[in-house]
Amino acid sequence: MDKFLNKIKLIQANNVLDVATGRGEFIPLLKENLRNYNKIIGIDTNKKMLEKARKKFENDSVFFKQLPAENTEFSDDYFDVVAISNSLHHMKKLQAVLDEMYRVLKPEGYFLINEMIRDDEQTPAQENHIAIHHWAAAIDRKRGRFHGKTFTRKQIEEILNRSRLDNIDVYEYSHKINNPLDEQIVRDLTRKIDQYIQILEDEVDCKKLIERGEVIKENVKRVGFASAKSVFIIEKK
Ligand SMILES: C[S@@+](CC[C@H](N)C(=O)[O-])C[C@H]1O[C@@H](n2cnc3c(N)ncnc32)[C@H](O)[C@@H]1O
Repeated sequence: MDKFLNKIKLIQANNVLDVATGRGEFIPLLKENLRNYNKIIGIDTNKKMLEKARKKFENDSVFFKQLPAENTEFSDDYFDVVAISNSLHHMKKLQAVLDEMYRVLKPEGYFLINEMIRDDEQTPAQENHIAIHHWAAAIDRKRGRFHGKTFTRKQIEEILNRSRLDNIDVYEYSHKINNPLDEQIVRDLTRKIDQYIQILEDEVDCKKLIERGEVIKENVKRVGFASAKSVFIIEKK
């Protein structure tokens, strides 16, 4: 993580774009680490997420727009940095999104990717994170929302190799959790899983999803929870 942040600290940016920004979760890392910037624009299709993001960054050089990642309104070569965090697997039209990100990025500009991965040796507690994530994605899909499985590291590298960017730097990291069986963490998580199961019980045709939730809950009680591995990737146009 530090290696990645040290690279980010060297980037001098004017305009920065955070694609599929959600509640703007990735923006503090950009704000705190980019050498400088003039404005950061976060885009997302979800209006409610954007409202929450706006409240977090009032009185800041951070702006939000409701726009689809595959078809933004920005002119060619507008941004010095284009970032996407934990959202590649949310993109239904992934190639179109990557093409659009490339289009709005300036020559010599930086393309930053932060994405959770599902392979590489992960501890049983990290496997629980992956299982929870894939379960939540299956629930989203059942409700008609696109949400793919997370990618393997190799899949992400292959996706990026198809782009016309160079100088790929890949860093792998995971957030440290001292005790995966920390009582509070296990209690909060099992409560959250139970809440989801309760909602699923009122929906049709969810028996398998409910059973899967029960299995995950027992696994969390047995081996705990830890953040899965993620990759940070820096490319240059
Ligand atoms: C897991 S959230 C990512 C949040 C944040 N970037 C982070 O680092 O935690 C995924 C986001 O992708 C957004 N999204 C999905 N499809 C999109 C699209 N085509 N264009 C823009 N945003 C999209 C969703 O609305 C959601 O807010």
